[in-house]
Order: sequence, then structure tokens, then C-alpha cells
Amino acid sequence: MTLLDGKAVSGQIKDEIAVEVSRMKEKGEKVPHLAAIIVGTDGASLTYVGSKVKACERVGFESTLIQMPSTTSELELLKKIEELNEDANIDGFIVQLPLPEQIDAQKVIMAIDPDKDVDGFHPTNFGKMALDMSTFIPATPFGILELLERYKVETKGKHTVVIGRSHIVGRPMSILMGRRGFPGNSTVTLTHSHTKNITQIISQADIVISALGIPNFVKAEMVKDDAVVIDVGITRVPDETKKRGYYITGDVDFENVSKKASFITPVPGGVGPMTIAMLMKNTLLARERHRS
Ligand code: GUN
Repeated sequence: MTLLDGKAVSGQIKDEIAVEVSRMKEKGEKVPHLAAIIVGTDGASLTYVGSKVKACERVGFESTLIQMPSTTSELELLKKIEELNEDANIDGFIVQLPLPEQIDAQKVIMAIDPDKDVDGFHPTNFGKMALDMSTFIPATPFGILELLERYKVETKGKHTVVIGRSHIVGRPMSILMGRRGFPGNSTVTLTHSHTKNITQIISQADIVISALGIPNFVKAEMVKDDAVVIDVGITRVPDETKKRGYYITGDVDFENVSKKASFITPVPGGVGPMTIAMLMKNTLLARERHRS
């Protein structure tokens, strides 16, 4: 079994980006600038956004964190987005999801300038991705592709089963794994809460990508020998014996599934750090596009 070490690979990617940023600085060029909007005080969201800002520091980007109260109206958020769209100093920005219930996330995503949409969530970018056109690919699926590529995991002709159809992970992942080229060229089944015989479908998978958010959903008896197992789940399980009061777990019963898998991602230290690194990559791309 080979561990797909997202922590190590994301470190390499950030180092590569830092080298590029140093070159930009030497030439007296403007460095990439990422902004992140967070509405409310959800603990997990604050942690994720904090990691994104920290990664900007590590690679040498400028960053701006915009914190808005949980009572923010949709209009107020749309105004802030318009400001960032207009601000020539900002190369790319994200609005951390989920949003409070008074705000329509679709409307918010539609308001982001596609050229600054480093999350790749805008329909223009999502459509380009589906049509194999150059664009910002959502960071989590992009990170999974990068891991498969760097570990040279064969995907051609393989049966990939994606669990979960979220707009952020499952849906784009199902499109990307079926695209031409590497990593891709696989035959994809997208499963979700209404899928019948899901256990049987998972047992036929050469590659399992689980983005469900249910701890221990994927068990050893469900996966084929030598399957490639990618765990996108990040669930906080309350545990008073831990310093933070919780521990993080994925969708996969790692202890037992890892005994059967050929490649597997750990949680934490697998897909999560890759997501952050690929957001940095998209921001660098945004800067390069704005320059040309
Ligand atoms: N919430 C969970 N994942 C993401 C992500 O990749 N981007 C944003 N904006 N919000 C998220």
C-alpha cells in the first residue's frame, strides 16, 4: 500500500509556487493577491480560511481576509463582491461556504467575476471545465488530480466511483475523471443518497473517491483488493480527551481499508492540504492571466 501523502506533496507545490513568486519579486512585478470573505463564525470555516491565509504567507502572496458578521444581508455581501471585482489589486478571491441561510449562495457565486473566481465555482468556469477549456478547476478536485498525477496512479480505463454529488467536490470530480488525458480517461459512476445498491457499486470500483462527510462509511468489505481510495471527508467528532475538544476523521475506515488498498489518502494529511495548495496555484494563474 502506498500512502498518498497530501501534506508532503502540498509542501512541494507551495515550494514551487514560492520560487515563482521570488522570481516575480526579483523582476519587480506585483505578487499575487488573494482575498477571502468569510461570513459568520463557523469554527470549521474559520479554520479553513485561516489555513488559506497562512498558505499565502508561506508562498509570498499578499492576502486580505474580510470577516463579515453572521447577520450580513445578501445585498451587503453582493456589494463587497462588487468591490473586489473592481479592485485591480486583487487577483482572485473566494467566498467561504457555507453561507448563513438568509444568503443565496448561487446568487453570490454568480456575482463573482469569473476571471477572479479562483474557486472555479462560477457557471462560466464550471462550464469551461466540463468542456475541457482552460479555466480555474475547483481546488479540491484539482488537488486530487494532482495527487494522482504525482504518484502516477493509472486512471485510464479504470472504473471510478465518486460518492457524493456536491458542487464543490463530487460533481466536478465526476466530470474531471472522465475527461480525456491523464489523470482521466476513466469510466465514472457518480453515486449519491438515492443510489440503490451503493455497496455493490463501490465494490466494483478501481478508484473510490468519497466526499460524503459520514465517518466510517467506506468499509473494508466494500472495497476491492488493490483499489485506490481517496477520502475527502473531514468530520469533526467531539472528543473531550483532545486538546481542541474534537478530532478529525474521514469517510473511510482507514485502519482496515488501508490493508486492502493499493493507494490511499490519510485524514488528516491527504486531500485537505492539497486543496489549499491548489487554491494557491489558481491564484498564481489568476495573476499570470491578469498580467497578460
Ligand atoms: N467550503 C468548503 N470547501 C470550500 C472551498 O473549496 N471553497 C469555498 N469557498 N468554500 C468551501
